[in-house]
Amino acid sequence: MAETAETAELHFNGEVYQIPVVKGTENEKALDISKLRGQSGLITLDAGFKNTGSTQSAITFLDGEKGILRYRGYTIEQLAENASFLEVAYLIIYGELPKAEQLEHWRNDITYHTLIHEDFKVLLEGFPSNSHPMGVLSSLVTSLTAFYPESLDPVRSSNEVDMSIIRLMAKLPTIAAWAYKNEIGQPLMYPKNDLDYCGNFLKMMFGTPAENYEPNPVVISALNKLLILHAEHEQNCSTSTVRIVGSSQASLYASVSAGINALWGPLHGGANQAVIEMLEAIKADGGDVNKYMAKAKDKNDPFRLMGFGHRVYKNFDPRARIIKKAADEVLSQLGVKDPVLEIAKGLEEVALSDPYFVDRKLYPNVDFYSGIIYRALGIPTNMFTVMFAMGRLPGWIAQWKEMRENGEPIGRPRQVYTGENAREYVSLDKR
Ligand code: SDX
Repeated sequence: MAETAETAELHFNGEVYQIPVVKGTENEKALDISKLRGQSGLITLDAGFKNTGSTQSAITFLDGEKGILRYRGYTIEQLAENASFLEVAYLIIYGELPKAEQLEHWRNDITYHTLIHEDFKVLLEGFPSNSHPMGVLSSLVTSLTAFYPESLDPVRSSNEVDMSIIRLMAKLPTIAAWAYKNEIGQPLMYPKNDLDYCGNFLKMMFGTPAENYEPNPVVISALNKLLILHAEHEQNCSTSTVRIVGSSQASLYASVSAGINALWGPLHGGANQAVIEMLEAIKADGGDVNKYMAKAKDKNDPFRLMGFGHRVYKNFDPRARIIKKAADEVLSQLGVKDPVLEIAKGLEEVALSDPYFVDRKLYPNVDFYSGIIYRALGIPTNMFTVMFAMGRLPGWIAQWKEMRENGEPIGRPRQVYTGENAREYVSLDKR
């Protein structure tokens, strides 16, 4: 845990309160206000938690000013270049890169559990064909609690937690692919144990009983990299949601389902879908990037440059840099020409020299270019955020597990009340 480095003083109402300052392993410092209310009667207020740490964590370090992102100490650049997604998922969840035997065991466990109960078909049939796959995904993840009721008591059976982790890692791609097939009215495809994680997902997504679909190795490699780049990102909106739901001792499935719903919002993981829709709209409107830059800067215009800006990164998002390079490579390897890529690059070029964006430190984030690659891989737009969820799953699991292992208390923030003061009830005839 972080060590107490020094002390701050709060002078209030003639009193002086000593507030411990804790320091993490990367020298980040924080006021530990856990005793503030008891000492001074004061609470802090910080809408959106822009200046508030909710926990101490050993999983991810990111430096928004320097554009640094590390999972368990390893840089995202090295992991994206050298590792497989399952290897990175193991690292994030269990804290160390797996040895060969551990990785083999982890892969086999996950491969063995990719099938989902046949009754999922009954659940799927209940969704209208135009259902957004994110709503289907969160509903079906919650329904895992029905098929595995022993998962509902994660406190008293730790080995059940490990089983829930394996089942979730194994079944999420199958659930995601089945949600897609159900939406387009195609037959469901079953997992194949002789395929790797990404190949298996692609076959369930794009294969049909009518033909022998073989996933393209370029597509498998690109998907592997994209999942790694999305795998973890400390206390973002959806991960904080998973933590706070899990802090009530809700099961891993219930907590992750809540995280999926938080990710869905266009300000968060839903941005990758919103970026493509925005780029398509700009293309349909003649491709005039300057017109849309003006809209993004106009406070009276609700238009925002989706895929731009970040709560933490006030310089470049290291993931966006890797994804932009991968987009060029994948499109050229696949021989795909996507006009919206040029529009995206045009927007980035204009924004990076525009005072509005420079002053507010708004740069492309992870969602700005990812949709262009997903599209080149043949993934439909409304499945982009599902891809983000598949990538983020190890992060959600690891953060939920860390919160439970650290015995963190139930999350219950305070508030400042601004409503009516006490008043008497008025009978109906006197109102
Ligand atoms: C993700 O937290 C994470 O780690 C998230 C994530 C992860 O891996 O989990 O990285 C994934 O969610 C990436 C972000 C995806 N969202 C988008 O691309 C949506 C567009 N971006 C924004 O809505 C916004 O930038 C946020 C939500 C990402 C961050 O919002 P903040 O930190 O609350 O900042 P803000 O909204 O207060 O903006 C500060 C200023 C404002 O202007 P002023 O009031 O100071 O004049 O910047 C402006 C905003 O109007 N601004 C934008 C803008 N983003 C911020 N103006 C135009 N276009 C934008 N995209």
